[in-house]
Amino acid sequence: MTEAPSLRTLVSDRGRRLAAAGIQPDEARLDAELLARHVLGWDRATFIVNEAGPVLPGFERAYATLCERRERREPMAYILGRCEFWGLEFDVTPAVLIPRPETEQIVEEALARYAGTGGPDRILDVGTGSGCLAVTLAREFPRARVVATDLSQEALAVASRNARRHGVERRVAFAEGSLFAPVEGLFDLIVSNPPYVPEHDREILQPEIRDHEPALALFAGPDGLEAIRPMVALARGHLRWEGWLIFEFGFGQADAVTALIAASGPWDDVALVPDLQGIPRTATLRCPAPAAVARASP
Ligand SMILES: C[S@@+](CC[C@H](N)C(=O)[O-])C[C@H]1O[C@@H](n2cnc3c(N)ncnc32)[C@H](O)[C@@H]1O
Repeated sequence: MTEAPSLRTLVSDRGRRLAAAGIQPDEARLDAELLARHVLGWDRATFIVNEAGPVLPGFERAYATLCERRERREPMAYILGRCEFWGLEFDVTPAVLIPRPETEQIVEEALARYAGTGGPDRILDVGTGSGCLAVTLAREFPRARVVATDLSQEALAVASRNARRHGVERRVAFAEGSLFAPVEGLFDLIVSNPPYVPEHDREILQPEIRDHEPALALFAGPDGLEAIRPMVALARGHLRWEGWLIFEFGFGQADAVTALIAASGPWDDVALVPDLQGIPRTATLRCPAPAAVARASP
């Protein structure tokens, strides 16, 4: 009688299959182990102690199903149904973009702008997706009320779950519609990580992104600016005096973003903040106080 394979053998085999599907070998090995631990509900220490032993009944089938999804290059975050942002765990589904670490820079910039103050009263998150920005800012600014918009009703349902999960549902309202169309009144802080990938970059994206993340969350016309352009043009009409607009943009868009900001001004304290790789990534700009506007007018 042949001996049943150990957990270690099964995980190694699956790691090799993931690598054969085009995933980097180190990542493939790690993903194979993470998926096994997800099925078993084990932490790393429990896995290491038990990996030489036989597998539990029912494990192989459940594990194979998840590994086959990963072989089709579905992102781990969708398979696991969760993703970490700013140290918090968010539910994610294929209806929402998987929150990226670089978007945490928007939170950092917002915190820096309000350091030593009571924080903003009203915050707007345009294109909220999973709600990672809206929920994180609601937690970081405990007196703020947040409005989060998205064109996608499915995304808003995920964001609303995340607001409940993190206990801020009473201070975060959700509104379906484009950019500022579904909101009323003025905000102290507007944040956004809008779609900004040019259509022609579709083919150079990783299959995980191109084939699995929502196109609505990624692509924004031929130059990638079809969401940013109207957002920058309209934002001032939704900001209180001295309110901040903080948004993310893509690689190679710094000059275009600078021009859009200049054309929609005057703005104060304009900065394009680089990410950890030194690439300009986050625009921060402030609606001037009335006196400054009067001085700048002809
Ligand atoms: C890049 S994703 C960002 C999601 C989330 N804020 C994050 O940082 O992970 C952009 C989101 O904007 C939404 N969106 C696209 N065009 C929009 C528009 N014109 N108005 C409002 N939301 C829009 C998409 O559905 C998507 O959820």
